[in-house]
Amino acid sequence: MAGPVNQQNEQLREAAALVAEAWPTKPAAGIVLGSGLGSLAGEVDAKAEFDLADLPGFPAATALGHRGRLICGTLAGVPVVAFQGRYHLYEGHNAAVAALPALLTAELGAAALIVSNAAGGVHPLFRTGDLMLIDDHINLQFQTPISAEKRSSPSYDSELSQLAAEQARQVGARMHRGVYVAMLGPTYETRSEYRLVRTIGGDAAGMSTVPEVLAARAAGLRVLGFSVITNVGFPDAIDGASGHEVIDVANRASAQLGEIVQGVLRRAFA
Ligand code: HPA
Repeated sequence: MAGPVNQQNEQLREAAALVAEAWPTKPAAGIVLGSGLGSLAGEVDAKAEFDLADLPGFPAATALGHRGRLICGTLAGVPVVAFQGRYHLYEGHNAAVAALPALLTAELGAAALIVSNAAGGVHPLFRTGDLMLIDDHINLQFQTPISAEKRSSPSYDSELSQLAAEQARQVGARMHRGVYVAMLGPTYETRSEYRLVRTIGGDAAGMSTVPEVLAARAAGLRVLGFSVITNVGFPDAIDGASGHEVIDVANRASAQLGEIVQGVLRRAFA
């Protein structure tokens, strides 16, 4: 039957076939490299690369700091597909489009999705440049890529999270564990909104990730997520970040996060 979901499924099969033609390997994991974290893409021993916009059903990725590439190859000896760039709801994409990297990862037969993002910390102990392992999320985007019959538990994988925490200790990273609150964006929060995020149980606020995670869980993938705390949103001492400052800090924390992700891949999938 025609319809948006069936059309998306067909385009995903076509996109997966295109990838498999260039790189006939089943990836163990997909990795969504968020704001400024794209440098990990340079660590992938790339065997095939695509502009996202060249994949059926995939629009061009345009947000600040995002390149819009898919890199297929091995990272830490493990076959992966790495998405350099993502689709945000604030760009006008719906949740089904934002979920495309997760859906393609599942279509290619991977077992896990690793996601990263930039976020504003609201936990009082968080500092700019810290990392946060996402233990759970709160969806304040009020959109989902999931149809009713695919209802599932959007939980983060405890085993992979444990490995990540151990790797963070090994590389000496300041990595907290916490709750990610997905906002629509594209503006940062007002002081009152940061206070709201903290009050409802959040530790960091961002503008992405949740659509990908919901789709990945519905497809049965194990999910591991990280935030780079690029600014802090303490309601009564706000530091007024701009998009460019955010990307600078993310680039510095990126090196540590890259090591952590590679350690997890090696231990969980090599
Ligand atoms: N809020 C939402 N998204 C963000 C922030 C923030 O403070 N920092 C980086 N991404």
